[in-house]
Amino acid sequence: MDARPTPPGRTPGAPAAATVDWWRSAVIYQVYIRSFKDSDGDGIGDLQGLRAELGHLAALGVDAVWINPFYTSPMVDAGYDVADHRDVDPSHGTLADFKELLSDAHALGLRVLVDIVPNHTSSQHAWFTEALQSPPGSAARARYHFHPGAGDDGAHPPNNWRSVFGGPAWTRVPAPDSGPHEWYLHLFTPGQPDLNWENPQVHAEFEDILRFWLDLGVDGFRIDVANAMIKAPGYPDMVDGPDPDDGSSPCWDRDDVHRIHQAWRHVLDSYPDQRIAVAEAWVPTVERLARYLRPDELHQAFNFDYLKADWSAAGLRRIIDDCLTGLAVVDTLPTWVLSNHDVVRHRSRFGDGETGLRRARAAALLMLALPGSAYIYQGDELGLPEVTDLPDAARQDPIWHHSAGAVRGRDGCRVPLPWYGDAPPFGFGPPDSTSPWLPQPAAWGDLAVAAQSIDPGSTLNLYRAALQLRRNYRGAREGRLTWRSSTDDAASGLLFFTRSDGLACAVNMGSAPHSVVTPGRRLLANGAVTEDADRTVLPPDTAVWWHVDIADREEVVG
Ligand code: GLC
Repeated sequence: MDARPTPPGRTPGAPAAATVDWWRSAVIYQVYIRSFKDSDGDGIGDLQGLRAELGHLAALGVDAVWINPFYTSPMVDAGYDVADHRDVDPSHGTLADFKELLSDAHALGLRVLVDIVPNHTSSQHAWFTEALQSPPGSAARARYHFHPGAGDDGAHPPNNWRSVFGGPAWTRVPAPDSGPHEWYLHLFTPGQPDLNWENPQVHAEFEDILRFWLDLGVDGFRIDVANAMIKAPGYPDMVDGPDPDDGSSPCWDRDDVHRIHQAWRHVLDSYPDQRIAVAEAWVPTVERLARYLRPDELHQAFNFDYLKADWSAAGLRRIIDDCLTGLAVVDTLPTWVLSNHDVVRHRSRFGDGETGLRRARAAALLMLALPGSAYIYQGDELGLPEVTDLPDAARQDPIWHHSAGAVRGRDGCRVPLPWYGDAPPFGFGPPDSTSPWLPQPAAWGDLAVAAQSIDPGSTLNLYRAALQLRRNYRGAREGRLTWRSSTDDAASGLLFFTRSDGLACAVNMGSAPHSVVTPGRRLLANGAVTEDADRTVLPPDTAVWWHVDIADREEVVG
């Protein structure tokens, strides 16, 4: 069944969406489903909650949503431990809810991407249960990485690989009726055994899962740890030092992983209307990232260099240039992203209190002015800060537990959204519902959607205005960026560029005001700017957008 409108359009009044390669300039909103909106009052966000608030996303002006995993799961890693890839966890709703959500989203012109987790399953997946009950060497164990231990009695892990969440990447299992104890590989928690992608059954199963969701009408996938599925034969030890950039790590970014993505591209291309895939691939260089974006592979990959960057014009200029040039080699444009469910929220990364907020607002204008596609993490549009004072007892991230409390983990960026009111749960759930799964700060009332909606100067209204204006500039292929400021300017905090489609942007990340030649008609700014004759003065932490007339585009100088 295909519930898609033909073609899924944009919000009323916006340009038609039947343009080539919709994803090249799309703004995609990440819904962390546990924390978006709770419709049934159990304290956990769900699909009907999202469905009820699709209007917020349409009014915001995004093109698509990516929803973090909502599948059946024991939730040892917030749903990234999938027990059934074709069903919905009861805490998030039902498959029928998903179909309704998809249909409503499409009716509003919003495309929907779902998360697919191919590197591992849950340890409660039927395949893994069967593997534990089957002897070493069995077909059931061959779907995962089972291996005898090291040492005379096999009591040591097979190699030195470490779990991303701390501790060894191997866990020893009880001996079945016959045969020795073996160890199984898990690059994340022991509840997330790695699949063996040398096994054709694994390929077939995942292609079938892709088709299941594509047949329902989804517009694409975010591929979890898209760089990890292939492991080196013989499981050699990891060499100390930074991640190699030549594919020689025994488990990250190996060249053979691209065979999987090519096969998946075939599947995507066999459906109408450009179904896409975006890779989560933490790789060491833009060159390695570009390999995932070759024309016969994936459409997008998250730009983690940009996400990791500090509040520094020089650093950002270098990253912007590197990404634009590095990805031009494979004839594509970058994605830009500031936050997600795995990192400290950028408002808090960029500074404390109001400074962080001002910078986050300027950063949003910069990001949304860059040619390519942009990802917004839920709550970015509200200027939410990281919650740093969660009580230890409330923390749920396995990183917190596996590090015995040494690493705080990711709960602080996952706190449920405030919708309205002046006290928790701020409309996250219906009245009298169970407390949200993570407690919200008592002072979040001013940040709530309802409060910001009626405040013309709010962060929410800044995002709405920016996204509305951005629709006039489809800077995908044609949005070539030309710097109007120099690298010396960047050293003192200024970035200033125009795009060939007429959008100009300047941002002052320095500590003193900067003045630039006014390039055209001012469209938007995140703070007070002054105009003096033909120049515009930007205070620190301020970004401005202008429209440049065609005749003036090549004339503008810093
Ligand atoms: C990805 C997800 C992260 C998860 C991990 C294991 O990095 O973004 O949240 O913990 O994969 O699936």
